[in-house]
Amino acid sequence: LGLQRRVDTHLREYLYRKPMNKGTFPDATFSRSSSSGSIATDEGLFEQQEPLIPTSVVMEKVLRRRSLQLRNQQQAWQESPEGQKIQEFRRSLPAYKERDALLNAISQNQVVVISGETGCGKTTQLPQYILESEIDASRGAFCSIICTQPRRISAMSVSERVAAERGEKLGESVGYKVRLEGMKGRDTRLLFCTTGILLRRLLVDRNLKGVTHVIVDEIHERGINEDFLLIVLKDLLPHRPELRLVLMSATLNAEIFSSYFGGAPMIHIPGFTYPVRTHFLENVLETTGYRLTQYNQIDDYGQEKAWKMQKQALRKRKSPIASVVEDALEAADFREYSLRTRESLRCWNPDSLGFNLIENVLCHICTKERPGAVLVFMTGWDDINALREQLQAHPLLGDPSRVLVLACHGSMASSEQRLIFEKPEDGIRKIVLATNIAETSITIDDVVFVVDCGKVKETSYDALNNTPCLLPSWISKAAAQQRRGRAGRIQPGDCYHLYPRCVYDSFADYQMPEILRTPLQSLCLQIKSLQLGSISEFLSRALQSPEPLSVQNAIEYLKIIGALAENENLTVLGRHLSMLPVEPKLGKMLILGAIFNCLEPILTVVSGLSVRDPFLMPFDKKELAESAKAQFSAQDYSDHLALVRAYQGWKDAEREQDGYRYCWENFLSAQTLKAIDSLRKQFFTLLKDTGLVDEKTATYNAWNHDEHLIRAIICAGLYPGICSVLNKEKSVSLKTMEDGQVLLYSNSVNARELKISYPWLVFNEKVKVNSVFLRDSTGISDSVLLLFGGDICREGLDGHLKMLGGYLEFFMKPALAETYTNLKRELDELIQNK
Ligand code: CDP
Ligand code: MG
Repeated sequence: LGLQRRVDTHLREYLYRKPMNKGTFPDATFSRSSSSGSIATDEGLFEQQEPLIPTSVVMEKVLRRRSLQLRNQQQAWQESPEGQKIQEFRRSLPAYKERDALLNAISQNQVVVISGETGCGKTTQLPQYILESEIDASRGAFCSIICTQPRRISAMSVSERVAAERGEKLGESVGYKVRLEGMKGRDTRLLFCTTGILLRRLLVDRNLKGVTHVIVDEIHERGINEDFLLIVLKDLLPHRPELRLVLMSATLNAEIFSSYFGGAPMIHIPGFTYPVRTHFLENVLETTGYRLTQYNQIDDYGQEKAWKMQKQALRKRKSPIASVVEDALEAADFREYSLRTRESLRCWNPDSLGFNLIENVLCHICTKERPGAVLVFMTGWDDINALREQLQAHPLLGDPSRVLVLACHGSMASSEQRLIFEKPEDGIRKIVLATNIAETSITIDDVVFVVDCGKVKETSYDALNNTPCLLPSWISKAAAQQRRGRAGRIQPGDCYHLYPRCVYDSFADYQMPEILRTPLQSLCLQIKSLQLGSISEFLSRALQSPEPLSVQNAIEYLKIIGALAENENLTVLGRHLSMLPVEPKLGKMLILGAIFNCLEPILTVVSGLSVRDPFLMPFDKKELAESAKAQFSAQDYSDHLALVRAYQGWKDAEREQDGYRYCWENFLSAQTLKAIDSLRKQFFTLLKDTGLVDEKTATYNAWNHDEHLIRAIICAGLYPGICSVLNKEKSVSLKTMEDGQVLLYSNSVNARELKISYPWLVFNEKVKVNSVFLRDSTGISDSVLLLFGGDICREGLDGHLKMLGGYLEFFMKPALAETYTNLKRELDELIQNK
């Protein structure tokens, strides 16, 4: 109880403190107008003292003069030789022909929906058209345009491109802002940001004061943030009649957005693309000569048998690509193929399927085809890395003087990003291995060949069992078409779909919107912190409303972790959590880490969990890599502590200029560790700004008490992600309340143990992939679970006991009951003695 009270007092004290100089929370009423301090989130750029709003006559004059200067600069640049070249390019884009129509529609309607082929100039041109027409002095001087992107990388790369087109550096009239990073100056009139950033701005600035245009890009992707933003904006529009909203979409289902906004006008930018020759799996096999002779002589019956054997062999393989092929074969109706194709299908070498097929197609392109870059769509980051490794060993594809293999995914470094857009030297073939990020938001100009594996790693959410699932699933027809379209931008292209035609025919038309297939906790928290009323009522106004059960699960979760009170109002903790740019559970760890002066290791854990795992697990050296990781755990049953130690070791090695060797020997990704390092710093600054951290004592308790406190805080964050441990003869059996038997991912340090000497594991994430798997776990003791698991305040001491009683019964852990009774007796005595 004392513990809980202490946490609460801390939070309350800091939340209700009057705004001081810098970095305090706005006051408790949470009305934007009365808060004079800046909000302590990563979006520090949206400070209240933002100079851009023309609040007075003098200010207006100043801004007008500045706009004139900007316009003159721009004119000078456009007349320079380089500027002229770019102007010429810009005029050649399909969007240019529609420029006047677009600007007209936008000035005459509050909402406009724009669609057009990828690459026609929506993202880079339209915001510029608005900027140019507004900055023009005759139209009045002031504009502030916000253009949202679903991903960090597109916000960054697009803003860079637009600044370059205007002959400026980033941060002049064009800027960007993504989580914990940004470039924006006083003159910035056009800001590219992630959708999440705009949502956070709405937290402090409900009416988007001073913003003249909001452009929501890539709405066809139907991300959860975009769907959410649309509800909020729809409510806002009547209060801000002069605000303009532009929705931009790549594919042609613009109607639903238009009707959502009461029949808003739609403008389609007709684009020109060259024809793309389409090869489905059956032709791919023929074109690339992918055939084995081994089974050629077998008679019809024998061939049928060979085919079955191959399928079995395929099943044994775990590579997602192999499963693509397996599914493809599965779905391929045998009778539909010509005899020849049937043969080649059957005569595939099952041992080298998957990546080898891609390798073969790439080889075919590199040796037999005309020049042009190749874009390969793969399922995820792991696949991309694994394939890249395999290609490195190939005599042709691994030869850097002939082939340049690059990766393109959401979390790559920006130096690598630039290479993707650059044209390689003559004679070198550029191959980009990409996730679906290259489908619409990133345009690589010189692509002539596309290889499409047909799958995307999609989260889905099983509301009934309250379990998120992550499985590679087939893409939609719209996505396949989109991928194909990437090949025909500069000349006629070729697209190799690595699945048969009949599988394509079975694809859904569009992908299911994210809001219908993900857990909704963060979203619900945001709804509450934006004071949007009842969660379910609000969500019922979405473009497509999520299932009531999913909403309920999310609300229940937020109550369990103490972010929402019983009546669904935001608690003090909830308000703090809504302001941190991480998932609620990670935010809770950060806050507790600060309160208990245990910040150092918790910062590492949280940053690690929100970037990605720095432990590398290369296919062929899995054993070695796993034991390297196990060394960091030193038999203390925690992936999180292993991460903390690995990070510390790296920091020490860095100090000796030995970071790379250290990473190499321990199978760690230096790049990821660097990202963790920078995120840690930013989280620390953020927490410091909230006033919860005293720099001198921030880590005072971290290494006392045998790391029990670290475990405790990890437990407080991850609860109710908890499973019981039952040590059997030579194995460990794990159970959760909802799923029964569960398994650990093989790269967890706990997966190697034959016995776990903790009665419980808390885990970061569970994912259903056939069985339910737990990722990243930490062993905790009974008393830690009692004191830090769940919210004693919510249940009251007795309620808490009852809830834990549920666990006790379920898992039959009498020891816990005993510990609890003892603890309760001690507490009672303490209270009586005051
Ligand atoms: O948004 P949309 O897909 O309609 O096209 P965009 O991103 O505005 O790109 C328009 C054109 O700008 C592309 O066709 C590319 O030729 C060019 N572009 C580029 O060269 N480099 C970039 N980083 C972005 C765009
Ligand atoms: Mg675009």
